Amino acid sequence: MSYSLLVRNCGQLLTLAGGPADRPLSGPALADWQILENAFVACEGEKIVAVGPMAALDEARVTAATQTLDAAGGVVMPGLVECHTHLVFAGNRAHEFQRKLQGESYLDILAAGGGILSTVRATRAAPEAELLANALRHLHDFRRYGITTLEAKSGYGLDCDTELRLVRVAREAGRRQPVRVVPTFLGAHVVPPEYWGRAADYLDFLAADVLPALQGEAEFVDIFCEEGAFSAAEARRYLLRARALGFGLKIHAEQLHDLGGSAMAAELGAVSVDHCDYLNPTDAARVAAAGITVAVLLPLVPLFLRQEKYAPGRQLIDQGVPVAVSTDFNPGSCPSKNLWLALSMACLKMGFTPKEALAAVTLNAAWALNLAAEIGSVEVGKQADLLVLDVRDYQEIPYWLGENPVREVVIGGQRQNL
Ligand code: NIG
Ligand code: FE
Repeated sequence: MSYSLLVRNCGQLLTLAGGPADRPLSGPALADWQILENAFVACEGEKIVAVGPMAALDEARVTAATQTLDAAGGVVMPGLVECHTHLVFAGNRAHEFQRKLQGESYLDILAAGGGILSTVRATRAAPEAELLANALRHLHDFRRYGITTLEAKSGYGLDCDTELRLVRVAREAGRRQPVRVVPTFLGAHVVPPEYWGRAADYLDFLAADVLPALQGEAEFVDIFCEEGAFSAAEARRYLLRARALGFGLKIHAEQLHDLGGSAMAAELGAVSVDHCDYLNPTDAARVAAAGITVAVLLPLVPLFLRQEKYAPGRQLIDQGVPVAVSTDFNPGSCPSKNLWLALSMACLKMGFTPKEALAAVTLNAAWALNLAAEIGSVEVGKQADLLVLDVRDYQEIPYWLGENPVREVVIGGQRQNL
C-alpha cells in the first residue's frame, strides 16, 4: 500500500524514542532519546507506519497518491503537547498588569477581589458563542506554534452552570478545529464570593453536584492548592472524591508557597503536579517515588509575576522526578501561548539542557495527559502529529529566543494550513 504522507530529508529527526514504555522519562533518560540524521517519516492515514534513514525508504510505497513534504535538511519532531492551559475565558487583565508593575502581588490583587475573580465576573457574563470564538482564536494561535494537543481547564465560572459551559466550550472547540483538546475540570480554582469563608462547603458542592455531571466530559480534576485558595487537607479530601468517581487527578501546587500539595497529590496517584516553584527536596523525592506523576513546570509564570523564584528544574531532574514544561496560558499569570519561549526559559532559568527541554514539551507532556501511548514521539503506531522546523540543529531551538521555528504542522497525518 502506498504511503499517504511522506516527510523526507529530515536533517535531524527528533524521534523521542528509546525510553521506557510504561512511565515518563526521568533522570538521564530525559536526554537519552534517539535522533536520526537524514531520515524520513511515512504515514498512512492518521498513523506513522515507518521511520528510518533515507537510505531505507521503500520507494515502491511512494506513489502518485503520496503527499510529500520535503524537510530540506530541517529538524523534524513530534507536535508540541501543551499540557496545562486555562483556554476558556472572557476579557483580559491588562489593567492588572499596570498594578503589578507598580508592585502589587498576584495574591494581593486576588485578595482585593481582582485577579482570578475579575476573570470570573467577565466569564460568567459572556455569551457561550463569545467564549467559543475566543477559544477557537487561541487554538488557531497555538496551532501556528506547533501545538497539536492541548489541555484546557475550566475554572472561571465557579458555579455549576458556568463551569459546565466552560467544559462544553472546550469540547466543542476541540471538535471544530484540528488541535486535540483535553478538558480538565478546575471548578476548585478559588472560593467564589457566594461561598466566602466556607471553602469546605464549596468543595462539597462541587463533588456532590458538579463532578457527577462531568463524568465522560472531563478526564481530569484539578485544584489550586495555595494560600488564598485551598489548603492541602481540603485538596486531599476533594481529590479523593474525584478519584472515586473515576477522574484522573491534577493539582496546582507549590506555586507561591510550600503547602505540601505536590507530594500529597503524587501519593494519591495524580497524573501531574503543576508549578512546583516552591517544591522542597524532601517532597520532590516523594513525587519521584510515585514514578508516574509528572511535575509540570511553568517558567513563564514567575517571569510574568515578577517572581525571582523558579521551579528547581535541574534538581528535580537529578532527583529522578519526571518533568514536563508548559505555558500555563491564562489571562492572569501567563498571557502567552509561546511554548517555545517557555522551553528556552526552562533552559535559562531552570537548568534544563535543550534535549531535556524538548522531551518536556513532547513525550513527558503527553504523559501528563495520560496520552503517551498515542502521541509525544515519532514512532511507528503513534498518531502522525509532526512539525517541520526552520532550523537545522535542535540546539538552535532554545537559542532563537521567542521565535517560532515552525515551518509545517501535520496533525493526524494531515498537513495544516497555518
Ligand atoms: O495556573 N494559579 C492559579 N491559576 C492560574 C492563574 C489563573 C489566573 O490568574 O487567572 C495559574 O497560574
Ligand atoms: Fe494554571
